[in-house]
Amino acid sequence: MDTTKTAEDAKLDWIDGDMPYSTLFGDHFYCRSDGRAECGHVFVGANGLPGRWADGGAFAIGELGFGTGLNFCETLRIWRAPRAAGQAPGTLSFTSFELYPMEREAIAKALSRWPELTRERGDLLALWPEKPDSDVTLTFEPDVTLRVIVGDALDRLSARKNLFDAWYLDGFAPSRNPAMWSEELMAAVCDHTSPGGTFATYAAAGFVRRNLMAAGFAVERRPGFAGKREMLAGTKSAA
Ligand SMILES: C[S@@+](CC[C@H](N)C(=O)[O-])C[C@H]1O[C@@H](n2cnc3c(N)ncnc32)[C@H](O)[C@@H]1O
Repeated sequence: MDTTKTAEDAKLDWIDGDMPYSTLFGDHFYCRSDGRAECGHVFVGANGLPGRWADGGAFAIGELGFGTGLNFCETLRIWRAPRAAGQAPGTLSFTSFELYPMEREAIAKALSRWPELTRERGDLLALWPEKPDSDVTLTFEPDVTLRVIVGDALDRLSARKNLFDAWYLDGFAPSRNPAMWSEELMAAVCDHTSPGGTFATYAAAGFVRRNLMAAGFAVERRPGFAGKREMLAGTKSAA
């Protein structure tokens, strides 16, 4: 039996024409003021990027919740900037876990909001399946690979062996989707983090912080994006 979930199962609604909203989870995919800037503050900035790319090695990002691919496109844009001038070697692998992979048309609509991402949106859409129904692996230039692992994040991450250097924890608000912040899933995230690796999230709920600490991260509260009081970031001990 095919148990793959589809965008229809995710029950997407559109606000202001191009802002997706999940009626299944009762939440937005990103903050309503500017999801791209939020990504820069929360996921890129609080994971210490792009500074940690400077040594030019292989860098692996893990994400919970691919959604529209906004975080991937913004990360790719930032990754590309110094490389356009022929600087900064290294490779980037971006692996995202997603239960309801979006159809190409929905991604196109959502990302059309950001002219800054025209190139990355075009590159993603040129390769993204019209209606994804299994894992997706895409290569951008020789140095960037995107993998979207389709299915429940806990099941699919637990079955993997590779480690990630930085995590983007983006599974809807903890109050709307507690399964994406559970003790088991946060433990699996930490088990799949390289020594000295990091996570960042807009979430600040007490149970999320406790689950991340119990998993083995040193957790810090930081100022959130756009007036939100707090967000969380943390590091796995290098020992
Ligand atoms: C806040 S959105 C992610 C936004 C995304 N990072 C972006 O750049 O657009 C949360 C995502 O988590 C996915 N999701 C919810 N529960 C999940 C689960 N148990 N396993 C995997 N993905 C899940 C949803 O389908 C949704 O796409």
